[in-house]
Amino acid sequence: MRPLIVLMVALGLVACGGGGASTTTATISAVATLYPATFDYTSVDPTAPANYAAPALPAHYDATLLATSNQTVANILSDKGATLGRVLFNDRRLSFNDSKSCASCHVQANGFADTAQFSSGFAGGLTTAHAMRLGNVAFYQGASMFWDKRAASVEAQSTQPIQNAVEMGFDSATHGGFAALITKMQALPYYPELFAWVFGDSTITEARVQSVLAQYERSIISSSSKWDRAYAVVYSANGSVNSNQNFARSLAGTNIPVVDRFTASEDNGRALFIQGPVNGGKGCGGCHQPPTFALNANSKSNGLDAGETIIFKSPSLKNVGLTGRFMHDGRFSTLAQVLNHYATGIRAGAALDSRLPAGGLAIAIGLTSTEQADIVAFLATLTDSTLLTDTRFTDPFKK
Ligand code: HEC
Ligand code: HEC
Repeated sequence: MRPLIVLMVALGLVACGGGGASTTTATISAVATLYPATFDYTSVDPTAPANYAAPALPAHYDATLLATSNQTVANILSDKGATLGRVLFNDRRLSFNDSKSCASCHVQANGFADTAQFSSGFAGGLTTAHAMRLGNVAFYQGASMFWDKRAASVEAQSTQPIQNAVEMGFDSATHGGFAALITKMQALPYYPELFAWVFGDSTITEARVQSVLAQYERSIISSSSKWDRAYAVVYSANGSVNSNQNFARSLAGTNIPVVDRFTASEDNGRALFIQGPVNGGKGCGGCHQPPTFALNANSKSNGLDAGETIIFKSPSLKNVGLTGRFMHDGRFSTLAQVLNHYATGIRAGAALDSRLPAGGLAIAIGLTSTEQADIVAFLATLTDSTLLTDTRFTDPFKK
């Protein structure tokens, strides 16, 4: 609060002799005076930006884990940058006809994904892939974005949807490309104001848009699922280290508070997911790695189609239960179908990971229907409802 109070005094907003304007009114006056367009269009408060750079995270999001973020020294996350990223992410004016924002397809309530198999773009056309969840994007170490890893970094990916002829429509062939968007943004009063606030001058460039969108995306960290709360107990009691040994510990014991204690089915699913085949598990966690459940960058594909040559990634499995559709083409509509794929549907191909046997796990190591149901129950413990309502990620637009 201190900077705010200083600001209010400087502006003469704190009345002498008591009985002055309430803090809220004074704050609003300060924002309206200093950042009139931002105030007019959004609920963002540049005098007191939300905390994106140093949020309170559970202890198992420790220094070792945070060091695996794909953030680079060239683009360190700041509260200001992520705040501007939030505005851009939710702004429909970034599409050619003001109809679609990033958030139209990456819906916070659905774990930043779309529940439809394919998403409709600015002119009603459909995407050819399923919209990906964005939680824990920072922890994909290969720093390759999209299902087929074709974008080299979070930054490089971030402005591609804007220039996509189906998604947001500022493609160079028909609508002037990114240059046309920059002209449009310069005429929207809040952008020169906000770019000056973040960068020191009001110049808008694609590189600047990329840097703040990437900062915002990396700030979308999922750390508050039932699994996180239960695992946090085990982590703290056993050396405060993220180790296979700790991931393998039961979360169904009386050491876990009742509200977060795993059921027998969830805990069996956890063991099956985390443990490798040598320990009686199914090896899911070797690719979908705890505690972020982002995919290990060295993983290959999971055999959806015979003869597959493209190496696909998976978004973090946090909030996977809210997506409604699964895999790059959204071919499955239930997690039971996903488990059935791993049990009997894995097809041979050049891109298939050697840890997954063609024919399916049921034949190679066994994966009964009860085990499948237990793993589905475990996947539901990865739902992070805190992230779905975190006000740092809501739509800030008033109009
Ligand atoms: C019309 C729907 C739509 C819009 C609008 C959209 N996206 Fe996406 N997004 C998708 C789809 C579909 C994919 C997967 C595409 C693929 O892999 O080919 C995706 C993938 C991504 C990924 C990759 C995630 C990963 O783990 O690899 C990121 C990041 C992302 N989008 C961010 C954005 C941002 C930022 C914007 C706004 C500038 C945006 N999206 C606008 C549908 C959309
Ligand atoms: C060899 C690495 C690997 C292993 C092992 C593995 N997966 Fe996957 N998983 C992937 C890949 C790659 C994808 C994305 C495939 C695609 O869409 O083309 C994926 C996708 C998924 C999805 C859908 C994600 C989404 O956003 O649509 C779920 C759920 C899932 N896996 C669960 C499991 C479970 C449960 C197991 C264990 C039985 C498992 N995985 C084992 C690599 C792996």
